[in-house]
Amino acid sequence: MTKDQKLNFISGHFEDPEESVKELKSFLISDDVRQKLFDDFSENTISNFYFPYGIAPNFLIDGKVYHVPMVIEESSVVAAAAKSAKFLSNMGGFRTEIVSTTKIGQVHFIWKGNVEKLKTLMPDLKDRLLESTQYITSNMQNRGGGILDIELVDKTDEIQDYFQLKATFETVDSMGANFINTCLEEFASELKVFFQESPYFDNEEHNCEVIMAILSNYTPDCLVKASIECNVSEFDNIDPNLTGEQFAWKFEKAVQIAKVDTYRAATHNKGIFNGIDAVALATGNDFRAIEACGHTWAARDGKYKGLTDIRIENGIFNYSLTIPLALGTVGGLTTLHPLAKKSLELLGNPGASELMRIAAAVGLANNFGAIKSLVTKGIQKGHMKMHLLNILNQFEATDAEKEQAKLFFEDEKVSYNSVETYLKNIREKVKSDKAIFVSK
Ligand code: MEV
Repeated sequence: MTKDQKLNFISGHFEDPEESVKELKSFLISDDVRQKLFDDFSENTISNFYFPYGIAPNFLIDGKVYHVPMVIEESSVVAAAAKSAKFLSNMGGFRTEIVSTTKIGQVHFIWKGNVEKLKTLMPDLKDRLLESTQYITSNMQNRGGGILDIELVDKTDEIQDYFQLKATFETVDSMGANFINTCLEEFASELKVFFQESPYFDNEEHNCEVIMAILSNYTPDCLVKASIECNVSEFDNIDPNLTGEQFAWKFEKAVQIAKVDTYRAATHNKGIFNGIDAVALATGNDFRAIEACGHTWAARDGKYKGLTDIRIENGIFNYSLTIPLALGTVGGLTTLHPLAKKSLELLGNPGASELMRIAAAVGLANNFGAIKSLVTKGIQKGHMKMHLLNILNQFEATDAEKEQAKLFFEDEKVSYNSVETYLKNIREKVKSDKAIFVSK
């Protein structure tokens, strides 16, 4: 089907087909070439789904100022990141450290045979695997990456006859999923040939059943740490009811709670991913991969825990986030999506490691902002203030009504009901004022 045919076909499933097609088409870009680019990102595309593209300015990271692009629909996330960035920039900003940058891929296979023999033949197999992928890896090697290691993992105690080839990759500035998967599928073919051809194997040993060959989204060795450090007295003015020391104590408790309570840990980490996902989306990175990895890392001790760490010693507050982030700045959508390209340009065209540093700092900023609010005034006041505009839009408030409402709700609790009642009242008042005017 053509795109129009698809639209017509699906339109019959909406309440008002004609109106719905009009609505869906209204989100298409007028530039046909550019629209085609978006259509081709996915399959069966019938429209574009817009998300806001915002900037969290003034992030001081390792002494450099970044204005960070964020794509997110939750109203308070950019505001929280920007507020934390500004607050923390007065205290030296964020310091970051790349701990490691390697990624993992696996060939999972079933093989019945003498394990010791296979282990002995592993160096030979490894050479063959590296040679068979040379045509794929040569470009990556020129850029400083490639296959770093291939090891045999014996998993026969967990599943009968189950083994893995576990390969370690350096993919430099690309996220590397395609590169890794292409190498792994080549390994899989070569592995089968190796078992078939090697004279060292007997009978059944010549058969190997490859189950699958795929990268792992768990990249514990693609790790970045972002931290902030200041004197607790710098928190003296955060809340009228708390000294800096009391604030730091409450903050520390909140972080400890996220380490021991899984329910809280999930929300704590969600706040971190508010920032990281928004940067990942803005730069055309795979946020599902990043989330999957982050949550696996959070559960690496067998219990799901908050991702941040806190240390308060001798009046010094040190707060950090250590997280694996497999990000890319070349290839995939990072190069194809015009706004992802713009985002990277705005960040000074960073390499993958620099983007890891930025994303980790933003994640920490969002989390810092959330905990700061939670242990003081709570999040709803600020959150609902940001959400006020969304509620007003739902009631189709005019610009004048929005201005009036913003003033009114400066000192009032925002809720769906309170906004509805407020709008009803002011609209009724306008109506009755008009009636008086006419009767006069
Ligand atoms: C809301 O999107 C995120 C928070 O719930 C995070 C947190 O509780 O730490 C505010």
